[in-house]
Amino acid sequence: MSSDVSPCSRRRFLLGTAATAAGALVAACAPKSAVEKVDAADIPVGGGVVIGNYVVTQPEEGKFAAFSSSCPHQNGRITEVSNGVMICPNHNSHFDIATGQVVSGPSRKPAGQAPLSADGTELIVGQK
Ligand code: FES
Repeated sequence: MSSDVSPCSRRRFLLGTAATAAGALVAACAPKSAVEKVDAADIPVGGGVVIGNYVVTQPEEGKFAAFSSSCPHQNGRITEVSNGVMICPNHNSHFDIATGQVVSGPSRKPAGQAPLSADGTELIVGQK
């Protein structure tokens, strides 16, 4: 049994590795949905829902806000809305559903606001 690695197999390995890395980069950089739509009736008053890369909230009846679900602390993900706050479970930062300001936790930056518009009862969040 030989322990030599032929230039051909080394080259194939490197090409395979480069192709895999390029594929991973393409997948990581693939555009995610820039716009999400949700019916206003699906957003609870005093709460909100996580939709794609966004959190849509209704702090008061008929008043809506939208934020990025990307946590400003260490780029975790806000995954829950409960008791008037948006929560990133990574380090337990809590953000106000009306303003995005930090309520508690290690984040020093507020949740990033996202563009929000309405078409009838449909809410449209994100860049068009
Ligand atoms: S990444 Fe969200 S709290 Fe740390």
